[in-house]
Amino acid sequence: MENYMKKIEEAANYILAQDARRPEIAIILGSGLGKLADELENAKVIPYKNIPNFPVSTAVGHKGNLIIGELSGKTVLAMQGRFHFYEGYTMEQVTMPQRVMSLMGIKTLFVSNAAGGLNPDFQVGDLMLIYDHINMMPCPLIGPNLDKFGPRFPDMNKPYAPRLRKLAVDCGANLGIFLHRGIYIAVTGPAYETVAECRFFRTAGADAVGMSTVPEVIVARHCGMEVLGISVITDIFHDYTDEDFILDENEVVVAADKAADKMTALFKSIIAKL
Ligand code: HPA
Repeated sequence: MENYMKKIEEAANYILAQDARRPEIAIILGSGLGKLADELENAKVIPYKNIPNFPVSTAVGHKGNLIIGELSGKTVLAMQGRFHFYEGYTMEQVTMPQRVMSLMGIKTLFVSNAAGGLNPDFQVGDLMLIYDHINMMPCPLIGPNLDKFGPRFPDMNKPYAPRLRKLAVDCGANLGIFLHRGIYIAVTGPAYETVAECRFFRTAGADAVGMSTVPEVIVARHCGMEVLGISVITDIFHDYTDEDFILDENEVVVAADKAADKMTALFKSIIAKL
């Protein structure tokens, strides 16, 4: 753990030395959602591969850059691509960026992801405001507690800040962007879910399923950050009656790319009000 702390500090110090600006808001751009990064003004791009101890993302639709720039008049730190447990990283690696963000002084985290719709009201391209989550992955806080960041048993009553949820709904309404409100269930992947698993998750109360986000949110909450989460629905649950359906990872990225403009507009509008 001492070693992990050192690695986090090294990475944070490297990033802080690259740019004099000190962002307080971070945005994680999920599969196919990286183009928000194009909107950042005065962008300083820091490739993950240059950051000491940082993992490098291998997932389809993920670029692998940290970008510091201005969005809606505020300095933000964007992660263009994230690390997934299914890539073979440990949970410490998956969530290292949130520890680094915390040391850098980040107070607010926006997370986005591509997710499969389980709720029958959802359609491809819809946005879902993550109201709460169900974690089916290992908890990233297993192991000795990092007391410097937070308590051994952190509260998870409202991982997604009510203040930010409300702001998202208001901004969505102003922009004419409809937001579903739902529960995100996180699985390890990388195999997509069986029909039986989707039925099970629906029964459990989940509205969308994906392979990311929740470890990052748990660690961000452990560090005391405020979190807002948005899922882009890239595919929808097909029951046994739809025998020809096959879920293709490229379709997921294409669908996310199509919805990326809506999500970008929403994030910009929320950030303007922070
Ligand atoms: N399942 C899990 N993860 C996903 C999906 C899905 O259907 N779509 C996008 N990410």
